[in-house]
Amino acid sequence: MHKIRDDIYWTGYIDWDLRNFHGYSTPSGSTYNAYLVMDEKPTLIDTVKHYGYTEMLRRIKRIIDPAKIEYIISNHTEMDHSGTIGEMLKLCPNARIVCSPKGAEGLKRHFLNSGHSDIEWKFKVVNTGDELDIGKRKLKFLLMPMVHWPDSMATYSPQDQILFPNDAFGQHLASSQRFVDQVGVEIALKEAEKYYANIVMPYGAQVLKVLEAVATLKLDMICPSHGLIWRTPEDIAKIIAQYARWAAYESNKQVIIVYDTMWHSTEKMALKLYEVIDSAQIPVKLVNLKTSDYSDAVTDIMRSKMVILGSAILNNQVLPSVGGFLTYLKGLKPKNRFGFTFGSYGWSKAGFKELESAMEECGIKSITEGQYMQFVPSEIELASLEQIVELIKKALAI
Ligand code: FEO
Repeated sequence: MHKIRDDIYWTGYIDWDLRNFHGYSTPSGSTYNAYLVMDEKPTLIDTVKHYGYTEMLRRIKRIIDPAKIEYIISNHTEMDHSGTIGEMLKLCPNARIVCSPKGAEGLKRHFLNSGHSDIEWKFKVVNTGDELDIGKRKLKFLLMPMVHWPDSMATYSPQDQILFPNDAFGQHLASSQRFVDQVGVEIALKEAEKYYANIVMPYGAQVLKVLEAVATLKLDMICPSHGLIWRTPEDIAKIIAQYARWAAYESNKQVIIVYDTMWHSTEKMALKLYEVIDSAQIPVKLVNLKTSDYSDAVTDIMRSKMVILGSAILNNQVLPSVGGFLTYLKGLKPKNRFGFTFGSYGWSKAGFKELESAMEECGIKSITEGQYMQFVPSEIELASLEQIVELIKKALAI
């Protein structure tokens, strides 16, 4: 039994096997965190993904007969958290679903269209500042639209000084231990960084608003819906500071080169760029999309002020691996960065427009025109890339 505070229990599911979360690689698995608050009106905060139902129920039954649960708070409609609400309602006939206005709309769309219309769904819709009296505790709600969906909200217990912010501050990390300080803050921050880059990055402005509201709360614990709980003052301060930095699209003075190659010509250009940037003692990383994972590349882009994107041209298009990556990147919009494009082509440069427009759409400012070389670059052409180092230094203010 995982008691995280008097009368508050973790009743979630540890997903040891998860290796891909809608396209985001999760080599360390994940957890879906549900929390049971045993007050006069027993309250379950969030549920778990559909295949974690049995385990969640087993954990709940060790503490209470589910029929006694009076509220199920759904902080977020996405099915990794609300996926088993329909099943729970069959066991909790008196329970009311507490959620945001958009949450109620989303839950109806998900459940009433998928075989759960025979159960009575009693909603209690809440807005920011609303209170839910469950006995000794008066839970409060904070709507956090787009962190991660329009319906997302956080639940706060002033009596415990615990924030349940759902996806915010989460990490995809499976562990038998529940707290960041048990596993190690560096591990948790690394996973939180990848999580932010792949899930939260497009919503920096909304995250900054949430951080303003969170700054007014006394926080003894942050209990996210994925991964570990932040409970020491130092760890709480660290994750909030990192969120402020990521939400402001801050990055390090380092370079990432992301590319794919067809007949090794674009690879030659990538290696030359790496060599000249490294020789200038600027931190630089090389990512070949043939062998690297999208979600790791995006995490590196979030860290890097300079983003260099390259592709060979195939049938007048960028390579499929690059095209797919650009689609993913455009959705995540890593703003406040500099960069340029490069690549090898056969007889037309038209395909490079996709690279250039993706950079523009992401808010990556070009520091030079695209560097494109026909068929196999000569040594002289490769040497011409050396002059770009000065432009990189200028953009990075080195
Ligand atoms: Fe973990 Fe947006 O769901």
